[in-house]
Amino acid sequence: MLWVGKLIIDEVVLQIGADVKDLDRLWVLVAAEFLLAVLSDLLNRGINLIDALLGDQYSIDTSVRIIKKTSEVNLDELEDSEFYDKLERARQQTTGRVGLMSNILTQAEDIIVIVSLLIGVVAFEPWLIILLVVSIIPTMINEVKFSGTSYSLARSWTQERRELDYLRYAGASDVTAKEVKLFGLSEYIADRFKGLSQRYYAQSKQLAKQRAGWGSFFNVIGTSAYYAAYVLIIFRTVVGIFSLGDLTFLAGSFNRLRQKLQGFFTRFTIITETALYLQDYFDFLDLSYHKPTAGGQPLPKVIKDGFEFINVGFKYPKSERWVVRNINFKLKAGEKLAFVGENGAGKTTLIKLLLQFYEPTEGEIRLDGVPIQQYDRTAYQKYFGVIFQDFVKFELTLRENIAMGEITEIEDQERIEGAASKSLADQVVSELPFGYDQQLGKRFKQGKDLSGGQWQKIAIARAYMKDAEVLILDEPTSALDARAETEAFDRFIKLTAGKTAVIISHRFSTVRIADRIMVLKDGAVLEIGTHEELMENNQLYSELFNLQAAGYK
Ligand SMILES: Nc1ncnc2c1ncn2[C@@H]1O[C@H](COP(=O)(O)OP(=O)(O)OP(=O)(O)O)[C@@H](O)[C@H]1O
Ligand SMILES: [Mg+2]
Repeated sequence: MLWVGKLIIDEVVLQIGADVKDLDRLWVLVAAEFLLAVLSDLLNRGINLIDALLGDQYSIDTSVRIIKKTSEVNLDELEDSEFYDKLERARQQTTGRVGLMSNILTQAEDIIVIVSLLIGVVAFEPWLIILLVVSIIPTMINEVKFSGTSYSLARSWTQERRELDYLRYAGASDVTAKEVKLFGLSEYIADRFKGLSQRYYAQSKQLAKQRAGWGSFFNVIGTSAYYAAYVLIIFRTVVGIFSLGDLTFLAGSFNRLRQKLQGFFTRFTIITETALYLQDYFDFLDLSYHKPTAGGQPLPKVIKDGFEFINVGFKYPKSERWVVRNINFKLKAGEKLAFVGENGAGKTTLIKLLLQFYEPTEGEIRLDGVPIQQYDRTAYQKYFGVIFQDFVKFELTLRENIAMGEITEIEDQERIEGAASKSLADQVVSELPFGYDQQLGKRFKQGKDLSGGQWQKIAIARAYMKDAEVLILDEPTSALDARAETEAFDRFIKLTAGKTAVIISHRFSTVRIADRIMVLKDGAVLEIGTHEELMENNQLYSELFNLQAAGYK
């Protein structure tokens, strides 16, 4: 286009001086420039379109990969704050880093432009190249100087950025709103947010100022070189070496060339920086966790003997404290065993060990005589139907919330209804305007929040949804009213007759239904036996039982 522009001007100048005007060639040139303009616009739009589409796909793909990778990670690693730093850095890749590909392609495009402009400029005036080099070197220095600095700053702030995210959530979300209002915490949280973000702001401001300062300085040098070139071209035009068209072409080319070269170097820094971020994403995907032992021992179809804890002791990762130690007991096939004990005694921890979320620090857990880690971990975990104390209230439909227990059966309405009726969740369903299609939680359109007990009934339905060999209920009825609790447990015992189960509860009326009861104190087994045996034993169990019973008299 620059070249055609030059030809047009030369032609205009020629026609001004001519006695007989012949404008044919001029119109052809204008038409050519018009076509080039249209073509270049189309190309640009095409590039933008592809950029946007690829960008969307890239962000979908990275998000999906991160979700999948996170589910592969073991629980102990998930609880590690370093893991969250890695996750956070990887997560940032799902947005904002989509430009890498388009930047690389733009770089290629620019090289073509630069080479063709260079050829044009050299053909006219080789001297200009020296000026060009002078004008571009400062930019290069600037880019090299600052390349990677903002990345290192951002990286060193990963933890703080997560804290900022958390504060933003704590200060502005429906989940925390009640207490934030009641205790008047918003000022406190806002101040903390402000304090922390201002520290980051101060550092990045300093960097930005340095960058801007040096940038302007080098730019002055660059601009001076450009004007030196301009003066040279004007001079040569005035003395008649260059035509007017040459003047516009050379001045335009030189300027474009300088811009392109500058862009080239800046983009080079951006690409290196993006690549650094991308490396974080790949590092996250490459994190190697000890994978579940594939294959190994086939799981017994029916549990013959049961589970056995042999001298099990456990410390949480990065902790020196024995949470449980010297644990010896048997969970017999078909037995309902209850765990009782004070808060922090280690009940939930034993469940997590049984489920292979963690490996015991010492000792061993066996299923039918075989150490549990010799089974394929995924298959092993499928054996269990578990409701955790802190089960998740998924803000999805009620149907999905129940089907979570066995998500492949989500289409099986009969099974879902069956599970709901076993857990008393059907009562909840009948009160909701959209029944099983009711959106739960308040976050989304037409969502309805449930009471604590209603949520719990749905969570119990999840356990029934799965045709599990072993059922584990960690305080599943703590929020149920007295009648519902009794009913839920009576049903549980009836419906799971012959199945192995562990029940954790602080209510002794529930606990006594179990075949045997294990009392934990300070991470050790204090006593184990039937309700009658423990009452006779006259230790902690009978003390606590009588304490609770006395409260009701
Ligand atoms: N993820 C964890 N990392 C480190 N320590 C933990 C973790 N989870 C629990 N603990 C510690 O282990 C101990 C036992 O916790 P656990 O959850 O097993 O108690 P619990 O008997 O289930 O109590 P509760 O009746 O309150 O549910 C507690 O002292 C707790 O601080
Ligand atoms: Mg617990």
